[in-house]
Amino acid sequence: MKAIQFKEVGGPDVMKLVEVATPEVRPGMVRMRVHAAGINFADTFFREGNYLIKPKLPDTPGMEAAGVIDAVGAGVEGLAPGMRIAAVGLRAYAEYALFHANQVIPLPDFVSFEEGAAFPIQTLTAWFMIHTAHHLTPGQTVLVHSAAGGVGIVAMQIAKAAGARVIGTVSSDSKFAIARQYGADEVINYETHDFAEEAKRLTGGKGVNLILDAVGKPTFDKGIACAAPFGHVILYGRAGGPPDKLDVFRLFEKSVKVSGFVLYTASANHDLMREGTAQSFALMKAGQLKLLIGQSFPLAEAPAAHRFIQSRGSVGKLVLIP
Ligand SMILES: NC(=O)c1ccc[n+]([C@@H]2O[C@H](COP(=O)([O-])OP(=O)(O)OC[C@H]3O[C@@H](n4cnc5c(N)ncnc54)[C@H](OP(=O)(O)O)[C@@H]3O)[C@@H](O)[C@H]2O)c1
Repeated sequence: MKAIQFKEVGGPDVMKLVEVATPEVRPGMVRMRVHAAGINFADTFFREGNYLIKPKLPDTPGMEAAGVIDAVGAGVEGLAPGMRIAAVGLRAYAEYALFHANQVIPLPDFVSFEEGAAFPIQTLTAWFMIHTAHHLTPGQTVLVHSAAGGVGIVAMQIAKAAGARVIGTVSSDSKFAIARQYGADEVINYETHDFAEEAKRLTGGKGVNLILDAVGKPTFDKGIACAAPFGHVILYGRAGGPPDKLDVFRLFEKSVKVSGFVLYTASANHDLMREGTAQSFALMKAGQLKLLIGQSFPLAEAPAAHRFIQSRGSVGKLVLIP
């Protein structure tokens, strides 16, 4: 089969399209014929050797995909060849990939393979932050950084569906229209404006109740500054670099809560996964959550796709089509 592989960590061009053996299905796992592999910003960290999970060289990136089951390992129940699924795992930039049965999400008919590839990581991360790490209530104000990105576009819609007022930040005015179309009531260009001052102005000085921050160094501290009393800042990434060390006494000033989020803690809990998946699909079916596929790339163009997501020019979800 064809797969993307890198033999050394580094920039996008370390990734090459190669011919490798199709993986044999193993007990407890299924093999997927991949129709679309999701690109995540974290894949760029993985390729650089800077992610939580380190590559075992030569390795293949890709943490999620959607496609059809073509083989089922011993001991797997309730899954069969021919089923349309999405899944979280490893080595998904390939024509075939193995996934643990407990990380498989059967796809409803109304969800395309591209949307399926946009679902497990970005959609569930947004849903769990808003409804599990935080308990968003109608009338709260949510500030979503990188609002036009993969997680951002989904998070704004999920927050909106829960009755929130949504403020999105983007790094260029060209993303304003997309951010508004996908749920932002207000949009701030945080490259040209001080987003904390703008957020305070837009909330009449009250501040925001929830801040979803995967940018890190340039935004984290200012987020605390524009949080409302009892506000909550969730740090779930570091696209702009790791934030400076937090002086916890700063949290006293307005009884602010800071927390971290990583999807693995939620995906390890099957009841939570079932709930987040069902609720997110229900929002999609109701038309309240639309997954924007910003661009599809042929598998061989994985380097171009990585350059694009790192350029800050992409919107929505990027997918690879093997
Ligand atoms: N903790 C978790 O479980 C989890 C799960 C999924 C994603 N994440 C994190 O969530 C973030 C978004 O992930 P995604 O896959 O949906 O990517 P994405 O938002 O589609 O793309 C990354 C975005 O980050 C923004 N950004 C800010 N500073 C940047 C910088 N210095 N260099 C490049 N981009 C920068 C850019 O938007 P603007 O320039 O408009 O701000 C860019 O479009 C990432 O940080 C990712 O690691 C975490």
